[in-house]
Amino acid sequence: MGPQLVLAPLTRAMAEDQADRLLELINSIPGRSWSRKELLAQRPDKFRYSRVWLSGNKVLGVVIASRKDEAVHIHQVALDNEYHRRGLGRRAYSEIAGLAASEGLSTVTANCLKSDKGALDFHLALGFASVGRYTDPDDGRDYLRLKAAVATILDLGQPE
Ligand SMILES: CC(C)(COP(=O)(O)OP(=O)(O)OC[C@H]1O[C@@H](n2cnc3c(N)ncnc32)[C@H](O)[C@@H]1OP(=O)(O)O)[C@@H](O)C(=O)NCCC(=O)NCCS
Repeated sequence: MGPQLVLAPLTRAMAEDQADRLLELINSIPGRSWSRKELLAQRPDKFRYSRVWLSGNKVLGVVIASRKDEAVHIHQVALDNEYHRRGLGRRAYSEIAGLAASEGLSTVTANCLKSDKGALDFHLALGFASVGRYTDPDDGRDYLRLKAAVATILDLGQPE
């Protein structure tokens, strides 16, 4: 058995040290790629809400999130291919929603490539609904704006 999987807050120091690995995960998502500058950009409460899945020192997944007004916005979510469909995404969103609830925030938002069925199904399974769409001027692709109540994620985010 390998080392245990741990869900930990992403600190700025870790984001700097592990930038290459985090960008490898993030840029495995179809669509516009992120630069190191974007990864490290200052956003409200980013290093409070963002999470990483670790196995020892190896980063297996990342959720980049920050606060936007009364919502937590998920900027990026990506797990190592071998760790999909094991409930890790669900657990990370659930923990972020729990923190949001404890701080009085009511909503979680995310944007998702319209053609990325797996990612879309994941968000729908956690209670997100589509509230709009846009074409990203940088990559020319269509994205959906997704929104979920924190309470719904907490409900649906429970492991079976
Ligand atoms: C999308 C992603 C973060 C989901 O995380 P995950 O840990 O694999 O998802 P979970 O195991 O927590 O899934 C929770 C539920 O979401 C749904 N779901 C997740 N992935 C799905 C898929 N590929 N197809 C259909 N439903 C899916 C299922 O209902 C699942 O519950 P179940 O496994 O009990 O049926 C992960 O697959 C990933 O990193 N994908 C590549 C990067 C990416 O596309 N990011 C999203 C950009 S918007």
